[in-house]
Amino acid sequence: MRPPVVDLDGVAKTYGDVAALADAHLTVRRGEMLAIVGPSGSGKSTMLNIMGTLARPTAGTVRIDGHAVDDLSDRELSALRARTIGFVFQSFHLAGGVPALDAVADGLLYSGLPRGDRRRLAEAALRRVGLGPRLYSEPHQLSGGEKQRVAIARAVVGDPPLLLADEPTGALDSRSGAVVMELLHELHGAGTTVVVITHDRDIAESLPREVRIKDGRIEHDSAALRQEAVAR
Ligand SMILES: Nc1ncnc2c1ncn2[C@@H]1O[C@H](COP(=O)(O)OP(=O)(O)OP(=O)(O)O)[C@@H](O)[C@H]1O
Ligand SMILES: [Mg+2]
Repeated sequence: MRPPVVDLDGVAKTYGDVAALADAHLTVRRGEMLAIVGPSGSGKSTMLNIMGTLARPTAGTVRIDGHAVDDLSDRELSALRARTIGFVFQSFHLAGGVPALDAVADGLLYSGLPRGDRRRLAEAALRRVGLGPRLYSEPHQLSGGEKQRVAIARAVVGDPPLLLADEPTGALDSRSGAVVMELLHELHGAGTTVVVITHDRDIAESLPREVRIKDGRIEHDSAALRQEAVAR
């Protein structure tokens, strides 16, 4: 079996008396593509933020690429995150007035690469998502689907082994959504591990693995069911 990229062991997150996530056990192995699906408020973003080391859990152990997050200093954690994880957020997170090429090149600010190399890689990433003709467009000149593709280009420009996407198609019409999903499938085909949060049952069912979450608890994991079937 391939090594785990993400391993959640008994992970919980509480906000005051709200249990956003409770006793989550989840292993994501290198090269997998999976959907995390569940109703609004069920804990999906909480789980993704914990997987992405953007939030620390209130209980349990999180391992990323074999490293227990708890054992790392903030500095080591930032380095691990920069090297390992690309994020695509639901709300694009693109700064106004910044051309696409610069927005994507900024994704490499902490890579140690010189500016010329950062821009060259950014251009290649934008071409990869079909935005070659939009290198110098600013967010207000781009459609929602194009903005989401800039966000994906920025997430993958450093070629991270793990891509975490929170509702990447949530704000898009079905055609732009399909383009974005195709792109995520291509990245998966090229070896990236892809975790996608979605409300969309059709998208969730179209992915190789589906994890359903409700009231902060994982209530279904198609991979676990497969393993039980093999063991029987
Ligand atoms: N920073 C916070 N402070 C307090 N409560 C929070 C915070 N973040 C999330 N919550 C609560 O935790 C629960 C899970 O939230 P989360 O954002 O993970 O849901 P979600 O499944 O991503 O929902 P959606 O589909 O609407 O994005 C919710 O009840 C939410 O109100
Ligand atoms: Mg959410």
